[in-house]
Amino acid sequence: MSTFSAVGIGRCLLDVDALGAAGIARVLDLAESLRPHAGRGPAPEPLLRGRTVVSFFYEASTRTRLSFEIAAQKLGADVLSASAEGSSVVKGESLVDTARTLDSLGAHAVVLRHPEAGAPYLFARHFGGAVVNAGDGRHAHPTQALLDLLTLRERFGRIEGLRVAIVGDAEHSRVARSTAFGLLLCGAAVRLCGPATLLPHVGLAASLPPEASGTLSMTTSMEDALRRADVVMALRMQAERQRTGLVPAGGEYTKQYGVTPEALARYAPDALVMHPGPANEGVEIAPALMAADRSLIGRQVTNGVLVRMAVLLLLLGGDDA
Ligand code: CP
Repeated sequence: MSTFSAVGIGRCLLDVDALGAAGIARVLDLAESLRPHAGRGPAPEPLLRGRTVVSFFYEASTRTRLSFEIAAQKLGADVLSASAEGSSVVKGESLVDTARTLDSLGAHAVVLRHPEAGAPYLFARHFGGAVVNAGDGRHAHPTQALLDLLTLRERFGRIEGLRVAIVGDAEHSRVARSTAFGLLLCGAAVRLCGPATLLPHVGLAASLPPEASGTLSMTTSMEDALRRADVVMALRMQAERQRTGLVPAGGEYTKQYGVTPEALARYAPDALVMHPGPANEGVEIAPALMAADRSLIGRQVTNGVLVRMAVLLLLLGGDDA
């Protein structure tokens, strides 16, 4: 256990900003060391035996929820799963009361997804164990950022200097915010691209710490975003968080901002493709790209388990956890 307490990242993981570049490198290094246990590989030593991890999701999820549960199970933890539906939340239980209840039940860690930005921060104030933000509103999704970074580092051997175009609904996307933040901390050149109505109006650039060595630009031009990009990441249209009237109807958005084989051939013939999922195939990304040779989407999902194992080990593996 002391192996991990030596490289601890604190009690909670609420966003990548708190990790900084050094913390990100620690998580990625540990995740990479767990690679033999990826996919259907052999289970690692059960270092989290006797720890209880609760995944509590107030919003739908496939990748994040299952990969956290697989990660915790691989490490020998007891895993409990709860949703807002089916819990006392539907009877009016507050988030604070849920946190206190899980604290009294003795959970060691809670992986929390919530539709409201900031919910995991409030939860962490009333829960004595580890809290991992599994996505809060449009604010943050730190483990998605970490798995995106691991995928890039695995493929390119580095993150520094990579040119990454992030295309789509950045304004409503917690993934865009956390992943762009992580990329910038690690020295990449990030180009956010979409219609002006879907580009972030405040925040990202202003909140970057001085240690961030990457560069950030925003453009409404696909040509400017994709030209000489190493990677193009498509973002899901976040319909559940959008007001109406932000993009033209009738497929115009897809024509202009869809990540398609044609757009890549025109502007970024060698670029690889990422998407955090779930994808609206045929809207922000062409179905043909989902599992194409140039797609890293499956790799992102596989690496999600490694990153989540690393995060759980760093949060729970210490002697004092
Ligand atoms: N990328 C992501 O968070 O996917 P899920 O909503 O399926 O967890």
